[in-house]
Amino acid sequence: MSATTPVVYLASPVFREIADNPKVSVKYKFMINKVWSNLNTAAEVIVAESRFPSTEEIVQTVTEKEVDFIGCHLGHRITEEIVSIQSVKAVSTSNVGWNHIHLHPAIVVTNTPGVLAGTIADYTVSLILANLRNIVGLSNYLWNGKWTPADKWDLDRHIGKNTENLTYGILGLGQIGREVVQRVAPWGIHIAYHDIFQSMEMEERFPNLTYYEDVEQLFKTADIISIHIPLDESTQHFVGEHLLQLMRPHALLVNTARGGVIDTAALIRLLKNKDIAIHLALDVYEDEPLPAETLDEFREITAERPDLRFIFTPHSATADADTRARMSATMLANLNSLARSTTARDIKELNVVPPMAFLKKEPRMIEDFRIFRWWQGK
Ligand code: GLV
Repeated sequence: MSATTPVVYLASPVFREIADNPKVSVKYKFMINKVWSNLNTAAEVIVAESRFPSTEEIVQTVTEKEVDFIGCHLGHRITEEIVSIQSVKAVSTSNVGWNHIHLHPAIVVTNTPGVLAGTIADYTVSLILANLRNIVGLSNYLWNGKWTPADKWDLDRHIGKNTENLTYGILGLGQIGREVVQRVAPWGIHIAYHDIFQSMEMEERFPNLTYYEDVEQLFKTADIISIHIPLDESTQHFVGEHLLQLMRPHALLVNTARGGVIDTAALIRLLKNKDIAIHLALDVYEDEPLPAETLDEFREITAERPDLRFIFTPHSATADADTRARMSATMLANLNSLARSTTARDIKELNVVPPMAFLKKEPRMIEDFRIFRWWQGK
């Protein structure tokens, strides 16, 4: 490797190791191994010894090795201190969400849209059906030994709700929201969506899909609402006291996006005060892991309100082996492209995060980024 060989730092060995997981299909094992070898030809790759290095450890390695590009996932916080180290030019995450990375005006950030939209949509639909039919509650009921001979099958036992006549509200019609529409449209229910943009193309494809420009209308009318918007300054606590209070009694709120989109304190307060009565299906939380005190608050609410069904899972909507492998492969491919890049044209090939989408339209704006100066010296 020459003196100008870029240095890539991976914040975890998992990005290559996932290829050895027996659950990953051969095709994706091959994909990771191939991009891994390409990356190692283009760059000096330094891999963190542990899967979760501390910020101090990351700062130390990145500073000492003059790292150019960092690879991470949402379990790693890439802080302002880290991206302020002058050698760093770009950060690539294997997730679609980028809220674990401090956005620095001179640093390119890439993510992995596309590869995980389908699996998150599957998970969203599973949460909805599981909640409507109380699958988790019924499973616990049986395993807790409550299905005794006295508890006979009867027409009105263990009844839930089907999807007939429901209105489904989608908040955010990006890639994930669209995948959800494709899955639920055949149910024949009315699907309403709110987004900053109306999609005529989706409405033409799915006649039961309607645009609600007014988000309040969406919250007032829907029996099920699922959230598919990213977390940034403009969406922090977007689903707050006001929108929550508009929700219909026994409507279902599903979140597989980011916890911070919902104002958790307001949600707990409204449920406790019986100002709202909604079912929940959550995979993401403002603080992760979900703090024991917050879980206790939800436990207290369900004890008082057994009519409300809360299904909580530990941020796992993308957790199928092949999707996780593809997330890793896509991130490694982004790093490979960054390491090999020489001009603004190369940025067009990358999955830059939405706040940097302007770079695709206005490639000259890259001149304000550190990577541009690096190209000049190449
Ligand atoms: C999952 O939460 C992701 O952002 O990839």
